[in-house]
Amino acid sequence: MRPVELPLPDPQALAASRALLGRIAAELGASGNWISFARYMELALHEPGLGYYAAGARKLGAGGDFVTAPELSPLFARTLARQIGELLESGDAVLEFGAGSGLLAEVLLSELEGVKYEILETSPELRERQQQRLGNRVQWLDRLPQKFRGVMLANEVADAMPVHALAWTRDGIRERGVCANEGQLAWSDRAAQGAVLAAAREIDVAIPPSGRYESELALFARAWMRSLGRFLERGAILVIDYGFPGREFFHPQRSMGTLACHYRHHVHGDPFFVPGLQDITAHVDFSALGRAAAEAGLKVLGYASQAQFLVNCGITDLLAEENPADARRYLPAAAAAQKLLSPAEMGELFKVLAVGRGIDAPLLGFSSGDRSHAL
Ligand SMILES: C[S@@+](CC[C@H](N)C(=O)[O-])C[C@H]1O[C@@H](n2cnc3c(N)ncnc32)[C@H](O)[C@@H]1O
Repeated sequence: MRPVELPLPDPQALAASRALLGRIAAELGASGNWISFARYMELALHEPGLGYYAAGARKLGAGGDFVTAPELSPLFARTLARQIGELLESGDAVLEFGAGSGLLAEVLLSELEGVKYEILETSPELRERQQQRLGNRVQWLDRLPQKFRGVMLANEVADAMPVHALAWTRDGIRERGVCANEGQLAWSDRAAQGAVLAAAREIDVAIPPSGRYESELALFARAWMRSLGRFLERGAILVIDYGFPGREFFHPQRSMGTLACHYRHHVHGDPFFVPGLQDITAHVDFSALGRAAAEAGLKVLGYASQAQFLVNCGITDLLAEENPADARRYLPAAAAAQKLLSPAEMGELFKVLAVGRGIDAPLLGFSSGDRSHAL
């Protein structure tokens, strides 16, 4: 639910949100006053000119809505560079999805000297910011390439992909969509159908005593993974995000699902609050992503908590290279490492999944504590 103390946007931002609401209302009007939650999420996040990622909201960093690992400290990217460097062969490229402010790319470019770096970014506003930061050191792609060799990377991107919202009830599986009710957006259930119903039926859900179990289906993320698998000739895909294996994702105790909205560093559960001005996310079902990769002929190369992965890649050695006497450098680096590694912060909730083709050697990041068996 939405905490009452959320700060209100300025009048200009509010006007943009109202314009997006107008488009959503028009689409509801044309489709019998019901759209899937996935369609709503797509409009709220990506509608050209008005969606959260498509428009001008600040998004990342202290003045935005959330902070990601690359924004915390260059330590994250420098550690990740060790894994990417191990995977790259001569002539290979790095392809980053959803590069945010471009900071991760900037550090990786300086660590992986001479590497060909490509970005596929759906947000025109963020692409412009990335271009200002990175100039001609990067090539921006408008669509997936036909063939690719190297490493693909997506940090906190899969959680922004639209999800279908479901409710398993004693009367059957319902799809939770969006309608307009007395001028406000509201949830509206209908019987699940077609591909959504078929995918929902594959999941073993225990309906709680309340009679209703809510969760999400990441059909978009699965299709995305399958398409990456089709064009990856040799190399790996690293997906870093918050989430769980299927068994934990659909755990009986998680009966309210995983949807979370991020607005000015507040996390809340109301996806209909100021559409277009807040991020809407769902946790990642890493088992589903692993299966989608396998369907495209890829192999799971490793799955671990972010903390385990970063430690395996040597984050503590990199921190030890900092001089503790230089407090201005050392203290922020140590604080960031703590945040990246602590189980109470990002260390355990965030996971790293590596899938690939043509890679036989074990990966540095999963040399200890690989949990692929849990997928
Ligand atoms: C939460 S931000 C993460 C940014 C950056 N990776 C970081 O870690 O700081 C999500 C990013 O994914 C982009 N994005 C969302 N959906 C995408 C998609 N389907 N393909 C590529 N980028 C996408 C957004 O525009 C944004 O750059």
